[in-house]
Amino acid sequence: MLNTVTEKALILIADDDEMIRQLIAAMLSAEGYRIIFAADGDQALEIVRSNLVDLVLLDVMMPGKTGFEVCQAIKSQPETRFIPVVLVTGLSRADERIQGIACGADDFLSKPVNCQELLARTRSLLRLKAFTDELENAETVFFSLALSIEAKDPYTKGHCDRLANYSVALAHRLGLPQEQGVALRRAGIVHDIGKIAVPEHILIKRGPLTPDEWAIMKQHPGIGERICSPLKSFRFVPQIIRHHHEKMDGSGYPDGLKGDQIPLAARILQVADVYDALTTDRPYRAALPQELAIATMREEARRGWWDSSLVEEMVAMVTGSRKLVEETEMSLSF
Ligand SMILES: [Fe+2]
Repeated sequence: MLNTVTEKALILIADDDEMIRQLIAAMLSAEGYRIIFAADGDQALEIVRSNLVDLVLLDVMMPGKTGFEVCQAIKSQPETRFIPVVLVTGLSRADERIQGIACGADDFLSKPVNCQELLARTRSLLRLKAFTDELENAETVFFSLALSIEAKDPYTKGHCDRLANYSVALAHRLGLPQEQGVALRRAGIVHDIGKIAVPEHILIKRGPLTPDEWAIMKQHPGIGERICSPLKSFRFVPQIIRHHHEKMDGSGYPDGLKGDQIPLAARILQVADVYDALTTDRPYRAALPQELAIATMREEARRGWWDSSLVEEMVAMVTGSRKLVEETEMSLSF
């Protein structure tokens, strides 16, 4: 499978010197790679944004945007940051290489380009890209599975997405590190993935659950944690999933953690979860108006369920509606 991906890989060669473009293309075409050209930095960025490029070979000194700037732009966008970038340069000074590394370059090639070196690096980086693509596919499967569970209950439609957005915006507002924002986005989508193991008649039951049914339902955080643990890119996600039903006074499940023992990211997810649940229609009640939802959350925080400082942050966030839109937009970079 990797061979197939590698043989058909699309490689962008960006260089203002046509002779160099043709020379590199000749070396790569002989190996069966598909080639696309850019004559300057802006064109290179445009191509990367509108094509499924697998590898970028970037000249450093180009008219308009330099190779450093193009590399930085590629690496700063979530959609393109995993595309390997090689800086092709006549520069040999250490500080310029350091600048390349700071811009996120994956590798360097010196001019004049040595054919064997070019092919060896190309093969190695494309192999890495193929693994990254497979990982992305695995994540997509997880997200699809989680959304298919959500779809079983028409009342929770869109809940995971909103929950992820609220959680990320709250994490951003609190100034948490980006990796926590990324974990919260993923956890927001997959937090109930463990419900795959809960029989459907329990999952969609409208009346109160029996003690036996509750015992089964309470297993879903632990099952979700186990499902997501093998995925390395889901670092921090399993512990958020495990603890999303804990309560500040220790009356939650599965571990009965109290206060700060509950990971901060899990407490953030809870507050976002409660707000979304209260402000959307449920089978047993219509969506509450915002003021009533806020009063309910505050009362539940007083009762010892939720982190009251996070509830107040959430309230401040959702009542400054313009601010929320701005924060959600900013949080898209997570
Ligand atoms: Fe849950």
